[in-house]
Amino acid sequence: MQAFNVVHSLIRWAVLIFGILTVINAITGIKNKRAYSASDNTYNLLFMVFCDIQLLIGLLLLYFNHWFDKLNGGIGELMKNRYDRFFLIEHGLIMIIAWILVHIGRVAVKKAAPEKKHKKMLIYFGIALLLILISIPWPFRAEIGKSLFIWIK
Ligand code: HEM
Repeated sequence: MQAFNVVHSLIRWAVLIFGILTVINAITGIKNKRAYSASDNTYNLLFMVFCDIQLLIGLLLLYFNHWFDKLNGGIGELMKNRYDRFFLIEHGLIMIIAWILVHIGRVAVKKAAPEKKHKKMLIYFGIALLLILISIPWPFRAEIGKSLFIWIK
């Protein structure tokens, strides 16, 4: 276990907490026709900031944990290994798509007319949160599952 793994594993919870708060705020905002508030902005800003940190640490993990060496045997060999394929290809790519959506979402919400802001929040941050949820190596996932808290086996 090394520092980057620990931080990456822990920050997943901050991403999820602020992602869920953002989506709840979007839904209640639409339902109650509430004006876009400072807490809407703070939650989705923190969602973006923690996604940025995850991307940065994810890239450091790929480098320092020598994930690219796994490409030495060719892409065909890599694709046959469920664990390597997941972390080197699927996890990274889907999380990067989610990260892009969060960034586009921030701009879209900023530019949207006041009555459309919560709807934009729900679309962009909701899809990003779903992608993040399906790409986390949850403990119940065969072959790729990791523990909820990295120090607990
Ligand atoms: C919101 C975004 C992300 C979340 C919530 C997330 C979450 C996680 C979690 C929970 C693990 C397992 C940690 C463990 O228990 O060892 C993990 C591993 C990993 N993640 Fe992410 N991740 C995200 C984004 C990324 C991105 C963008 C990349 C790469 C560009 C990346 C690369 C990796 C790698 C390489 C591992 C395996 C580390 C190792 O064991 O060597 N992650 N991620």
